[in-house]
Amino acid sequence: DLSVSWLGLEMKSPLYNASGVMCRSVEDLEAMRASSAGALITKSCTLEPREGNPEPRYFATKLGTINSMGLPNYGYQYYLDYAQNYDYANNKPLFISISGMTLADNLAIIKAFHERELPCILEVNLSCPNLPGKPQLGYDLPAAQNALEKICEFYDRPFGVKLPPYFDVSHFDQAAEVFNRFDLLKYVTCINSVGNGLVIDVDAESVVIKPKDGLGGIGGDYVLPTSLANVREFVRRLPGKQVVGCGGVKSGAEAFMHILAGAITVQVGSCLYEEGVGAFDRIAQELKDLMAAKGYSKLDDFRGKLKTL
Ligand code: DHB
Repeated sequence: DLSVSWLGLEMKSPLYNASGVMCRSVEDLEAMRASSAGALITKSCTLEPREGNPEPRYFATKLGTINSMGLPNYGYQYYLDYAQNYDYANNKPLFISISGMTLADNLAIIKAFHERELPCILEVNLSCPNLPGKPQLGYDLPAAQNALEKICEFYDRPFGVKLPPYFDVSHFDQAAEVFNRFDLLKYVTCINSVGNGLVIDVDAESVVIKPKDGLGGIGGDYVLPTSLANVREFVRRLPGKQVVGCGGVKSGAEAFMHILAGAITVQVGSCLYEEGVGAFDRIAQELKDLMAAKGYSKLDDFRGKLKTL
């Protein structure tokens, strides 16, 4: 039994897509809806449609991925329409990722969703790393706090935030102190890609993606230990909130690790991009097999029970 109940929602599996992967078009979203994923989340949306950065803007290596997509998306009204038409009673939960270019844009988008009173869950992206010249809110905690204060002046439903990875214990403390001020902030998703990596092709003596002279967000195997550390550290610091695990999940073993570290649910990014929605069946079966071998019948049997030495 892989079911998860949280935010008043029922999920048959803890696995779903990481925002950005398989979720930009209605066609993508419908493929996610038809898959065995436990939920789906949309591509981060902006006020206006965006084409994104020049290609190539995504590249996979043996160990993971690099991307600098530049927020290609159809604009928030497209995802608002999808959320308006979604048959919530007969489908998996729907999450909407929001990544306005400014605080004013974020507030306008969130207000538009608020006015429709839809049962989808908003996830505010504090960690979009691929806008040249823009710092990300997750690394500017006073700005993040101000944004959350403005959101909570009117938004009256549970919501989440997507976080960048943190690498310093004092930053876990400072970030958690901000998030703990907001009761309706019910969960954080850890982690977005590890920002501004550089993949080099030895034969070509070249970078592999065009934007930012080759710099991009790193995902896949490269980021698993960082994502697990962020999950475990935020679980410890955010009592009464949930942590969604994201980073380096490609089999049942990594999904198990995230949940053992305390994750309520687990997102799949790089692996989903490379394998397609069949990854959800495979990873779920591997997770079930691993649980059976260990004598666990449900996720609560081991969630957050990571041992220390
Ligand atoms: C993009 C990348 C991200 O990591 C993110 O959180 C949002 C958008 C992008 O480049 O499209």
